[in-house]
Amino acid sequence: ELIVTTALLYAVIATVATDTAERDLIVNLPGLDVQPEFKQYSGYVSADGYRQFHYWLVESQRNPEQDPLILWLNGGPGCSSISGFLVEHGPFTSRYVNQLNLHLHFSQNANVVYLESPGGVGYSYSPSSNVNKTGDYHSAENNYFAMRSFFEKFPAFKGRAFYITGESYAGIYVPLLAHWVTSDDDMNLKGIAIGNGVLDLAFDLDSLPQMLYSHGMISTDLWVLLRAQCCQKEHAFGCSFTSSLEFNPSVCQRVLENVVNLSWTSGVNPYNVLDSCAGGAESVMPNKTEHNHRAKMNYNFDKKVNIAVTEVNARENPIENEIEENVISCLNDTLTTNYMNLPEVREALHIPRHLAKWQICNENITTEYERQVSTVKEQILELLSKDIRVLIYNGETDLACNVIGNAWFVSDLGLKREHENQAWFYEDTLGNSQIGGFIDRYQNLDFVTFRGAGHFVPADKPSLALQVINSFIDGDDY
Ligand SMILES: *[C@@H]1O[C@H](CO)[C@@H](O)[C@H](O)[C@H]1NC(C)=O
Ligand SMILES: *[C@@H]1O[C@H](CO)[C@@H](O)[C@H](O)[C@H]1NC(C)=O
Ligand SMILES: *[C@@H]1O[C@H](CO)[C@@H](O)[C@H](O)[C@H]1NC(C)=O
Ligand SMILES: *[C@@H]1O[C@H](CO)[C@@H](O)[C@H](O)[C@H]1NC(C)=O
Ligand SMILES: *[C@@H]1O[C@H](CO)[C@@H](O)[C@H](O)[C@H]1NC(C)=O
Repeated sequence: ELIVTTALLYAVIATVATDTAERDLIVNLPGLDVQPEFKQYSGYVSADGYRQFHYWLVESQRNPEQDPLILWLNGGPGCSSISGFLVEHGPFTSRYVNQLNLHLHFSQNANVVYLESPGGVGYSYSPSSNVNKTGDYHSAENNYFAMRSFFEKFPAFKGRAFYITGESYAGIYVPLLAHWVTSDDDMNLKGIAIGNGVLDLAFDLDSLPQMLYSHGMISTDLWVLLRAQCCQKEHAFGCSFTSSLEFNPSVCQRVLENVVNLSWTSGVNPYNVLDSCAGGAESVMPNKTEHNHRAKMNYNFDKKVNIAVTEVNARENPIENEIEENVISCLNDTLTTNYMNLPEVREALHIPRHLAKWQICNENITTEYERQVSTVKEQILELLSKDIRVLIYNGETDLACNVIGNAWFVSDLGLKREHENQAWFYEDTLGNSQIGGFIDRYQNLDFVTFRGAGHFVPADKPSLALQVINSFIDGDDY
């Protein structure tokens, strides 16, 4: 009788997926010597009447029927979350030619779904070509309905612990989506995690000169000039260069713009100052290449809401004219892009034949996307008030979304601190304990730094990223 009950129970819980989901099952993923034991699904969820968002779900290797669900979003805006899978923390990486390699991954203890958003990014699409235009609020709504459609496809996740996570511009996506999700009874949101996020545009920019100065990238003269002339207004953490511009615009605007430009076009890898620049330093320096690089950022000093970082280089017809140029400054996505465009990979992932080639970032989306939110302070405070746990983590060698600006954002929330900065540890290959980074702990919010990691923490420090994300989800110490 016990056996019968167990078998019945098994029959019930073994089907986490509906029939429509079973059609999305990945049966044979090219590039692997052996197909994995765990299940993966790839297909579409509907974001509204038009937009179809591509998702890729990897079941947990521990206990898929009980482990939590993690949603992962990459930023841009306009860049594909598949890079989170294939380059950062999926079970396989595409970093090596024509082959997928096993990799440390977030799906060891959790079901992880990667969603290509907004519409038009990667293999997400809109049947009608004039509905691509979107912005912060609208894309949050789309992401919510896409996830609703995902929960209908995989009803076993209803009520399951759910975490929304992401990186970079997802610093905006994640809290805005979480706001919708908290009023949905099917979605049991427990926490959010944001890595090197766009959280507050003014703090990002105000902290950048200090970040560059402390890495020897701007001169002491320039640093002194900035502080002497462009520091009329201050916030709790020092100069507010952005709100001082009006006092001496002719000098300060030029100097600050220069500083910002420098972080993208100096030739140093903007995503990790310690890393080299794929394609060479000159590939991002103005006037050094024949191809016209458009501004890598979109700072509009009059309309603060537009102060935002655009991660994409200008590149005419990227696929057609085979110019060897990196889409994202100093990063080489060739292997990932090639892999995603193999006909057999498209077939395995159930990508419709009519869709154009996969690109890691869609420039049109990046350009046309309307940036409406300049800080997510209000959204984070609202989530905390609803007992949603928050993890904000930063690789500390990143210039794109630097650790100082995010530390200020966290401090500015005005939360009650539980303890001062404390180190967190990992074990090195000799079994010695080493410092992974530092934790600033508040009630329900942790700010965690990663020593020696840049913008893409899980790519730079895979085992440390896994340690932190697992601890966050299990509610353990890091
Ligand atoms: C909108 O996206 C579709 C692909 O989904 C693309 O064919 C079309 O060119 C895009 N339209 C614009 C205006 O970017
Ligand atoms: C990118 O990587 C590919 C494959 O390793 C290599 O052939 C190519 O030269 C690289 N391109 C750039 C611009 O770095
Ligand atoms: C880059 O080229 C433009 C026009 O060709 C020129 O005005 C500018 O001074 C050049 N900048 C540098 C840093 O050489
Ligand atoms: C910063 O870069 C943009 C785009 O390349 C350029 O138009 C602008 O003149 C630069 N600003 C300064 C102060 O060099
Ligand atoms: C970007 O927009 C242009 C002009 O509308 C279009 O020709 C091109 O196909 C679009 N690119 C993508 C990736 O949608």
